[in-house]
Amino acid sequence: MSRIIYVNGHYRRYGEAGVHVEDRGLQFADSVYEVIEIYNTQLIDPTRHLDRLERSMNELSISPPMSRSALSHIIEQTVRRNRVHNGIVYLQVTRGTAPRDFPINGKDLSPTLICIARATSRSARDSIAAKGISVVTVPDIRWGRCDIKTVMLLPAVLAKSSAHQAGASEAWLVDTDGWITEGASSNAWILNQDNELQTRSLSHALLPGITRQTLIEVAGKTGIRVVEQAFNAEQAYTAKEAFNTSASATIMPVVRIDEQSIGSGTPGPITQKLRQVFHHHAERIPASARPAKY
Ligand code: PDD
Repeated sequence: MSRIIYVNGHYRRYGEAGVHVEDRGLQFADSVYEVIEIYNTQLIDPTRHLDRLERSMNELSISPPMSRSALSHIIEQTVRRNRVHNGIVYLQVTRGTAPRDFPINGKDLSPTLICIARATSRSARDSIAAKGISVVTVPDIRWGRCDIKTVMLLPAVLAKSSAHQAGASEAWLVDTDGWITEGASSNAWILNQDNELQTRSLSHALLPGITRQTLIEVAGKTGIRVVEQAFNAEQAYTAKEAFNTSASATIMPVVRIDEQSIGSGTPGPITQKLRQVFHHHAERIPASARPAKY
């Protein structure tokens, strides 16, 4: 079945969907995005993702392309037209199209909206999670507002590529003081020597992950203490367990960091437990029916 993509008011075939060559998303990365998981035909944590999209637009003074209910309708339609049962919805909003010129001021552009729904293999992801993944640490060379989910992703592309070249699946980014900020496309966690889940506290240095936030609540309900505090590579090497969180992989066990095996070198029991119960605790809205709240 051919895939259908929503772009600026139209549902187009994959090969025919496009934006203008002077879209500011293309020329300046003047653009924000979201990735929402679809699990068993349900959107996971859609309210938090759409809240964060609004925040990202607001931080950059990009006008929302439409109301939340209209956006939810487009998500619903795109998921339905592509018959996605498990996978992701990708939303991107750019400031719009104008002759190339750096300043934003005085430009009243109509934003570009793109919505893609893509099926991914749950069983493939589950078998990766059963073994756990390797990560490598690389310097964090990103800008000063990583809390905004922009498409300025070249440092993440380079970090992830060097991870792949080293035979790993993810890169953990290390700031100039030696603290791990987050993964190239995930938040980074360890289970420390005090049996606490530890992840860096929020700031401009990292993305406020939706999976991270929901997991903090899940951990609270299951009686596991969470500390939001930075850790360095040495602390990670000697952690009892480690994992990443993201909408596309939920909780992904990490069994190797650089040259060090973590714990027993297999996914840790706490990590596995959290992965098992995560969806049960998250907000789940049928992907083809609009949540009442919108
Ligand atoms: N990435 N940190 C970064 C830098 C990310 O790009 C992501 C998500 C996360 C996790 O956030 P969340 O739990 O809200 O997905 C943390 C998405 C999945 C991506 O770019 O594909």
